[in-house]
Amino acid sequence: MKENKLTFKSVSATETIRFGERLGKLLAPGHVIALLGELGAGKTTMVKGIARGLGVTDRRAVKSPTFALVHRYEGRMPVYHFDAYRLESTQEMLDIGSDEMIYGDGVSIIEWADKVPECLPEEYLKVTLIAVSENERTIEVCGCGDHYNKIIESVAMGND
Ligand SMILES: Nc1ncnc2c1ncn2[C@@H]1O[C@H](COP(=O)(O)OP(=O)(O)OP(=O)(O)O)[C@@H](O)[C@H]1O
Ligand SMILES: [Mg+2]
Repeated sequence: MKENKLTFKSVSATETIRFGERLGKLLAPGHVIALLGELGAGKTTMVKGIARGLGVTDRRAVKSPTFALVHRYEGRMPVYHFDAYRLESTQEMLDIGSDEMIYGDGVSIIEWADKVPECLPEEYLKVTLIAVSENERTIEVCGCGDHYNKIIESVAMGND
């Protein structure tokens, strides 16, 4: 599959939130974001920004759904925030009705998406956070599928 990639350097949590906000503004119903990265890399921090960009005004509502598995926020469209970290199997994800959310009219954001590859649609946006130092992160945004080319291009333009 064709991959379109962009790399961004963040030097603070605030900058990661801002980057996420920019990304969130470009998203449309049905889009799926797979968030990858080690513990503490900044995935939930990124979701705070993406949610804001999607019009979620209650910023305190955006928290890690580690125990609930999924949180739903109201923005310009429904936002489903998954965290697959504690899952033992993909089936647990499917059991909570993930397909309906992921293939529905909202935007789905999945932390630890690499744990549930079977739950991902054919095309999705992969965002990988890599910790470089205490406050520095490398953020890789990769469009798996042509569907996300425009978003990558728009995010890239904003970086100039
Ligand atoms: N540039 C940065 N971008 C994002 N977070 C940063 C950055 N610099 C420091 N941080 C800090 O790193 C931590 C990231 O925590 P966060 O919960 O977002 O990570 P996570 O990837 O979701 O972890 P988990 O795997 O446990 O869910 C926060 O305390 C945040 O303030
Ligand atoms: Mg998290």
